Amino acid sequence: MEVVIVPDAKTGGELIAEAIARLLRRNPAAVLGVATGSTPLPVYQALAAMVRSGAVDVSRARVAQLDEYVGLPADHPESYRSVLGREVLEPLGLDKKAFLGPDGSASDVPAACEAYEAALEAAGGVDLQLLGIGSDGHIGFNEPCSSLASRTRIKTLTEQTRIDNARFFDGDIAQVPHHVITQGIGTILRARHLVLLATGAAKAAAVAASVEGPVAAVCPASALQLHPHATVVVDEAAAAGLNFADYFRQTYADKPAWQGL
Ligand code: PGA
Repeated sequence: MEVVIVPDAKTGGELIAEAIARLLRRNPAAVLGVATGSTPLPVYQALAAMVRSGAVDVSRARVAQLDEYVGLPADHPESYRSVLGREVLEPLGLDKKAFLGPDGSASDVPAACEAYEAALEAAGGVDLQLLGIGSDGHIGFNEPCSSLASRTRIKTLTEQTRIDNARFFDGDIAQVPHHVITQGIGTILRARHLVLLATGAAKAAAVAASVEGPVAAVCPASALQLHPHATVVVDEAAAAGLNFADYFRQTYADKPAWQGL
């Protein structure tokens, strides 16, 4: 995989937004897989700025959700559908019709998972999947020991993830759902390009395990090693545990400009 070490989160966001813009120039109706959490926000901000300046046209793009809480009504402000509406669709000027996501409030959760897999398939698959990483190495909501072949399904959040996400629920862990629907690791690996962004020292150990450790279900993001086109963008703090950091810096510095991410 390619590892790009950037000075800060803003630079990482701009780099990934440029990669998305290149994709959309090539394929205006591309399916963008989007992630929630704090890390991807600089990507969405940079992309929205490019839309405003006319540098990219997103009007035909489609946006696919990675994961969703189970049991929150779709219009709950912290459902990921609502969050992505605020953080991605609105700033990019996209209609709700452009959005693909599982129904977290469905009474039949397995059917909702199957329907989402079918919807992704019908859309032609995800062209570029943006990922964050949990401090435990999760991608999407695939917690440690998730099957590397998993498809969209229900998962139970670890206590640590619920603690991490309590900040979106008035700091009250009791309000954080226990269950989620998440694209499986096998689903994520079907996207044509995976771009993982990690910033801050709290992610350094998970990044090092994912990039330089063995492929292992105990560290779900290590599955990126199995993908033919995976890009990991990290700031200096998140890169702190990488033994090959100098090699990654050299490789990126010598990369031909035409290549993009
Ligand atoms: P964060 O979440 O970007 O808010 O740290 C990442 C994740 O849990 O995948």
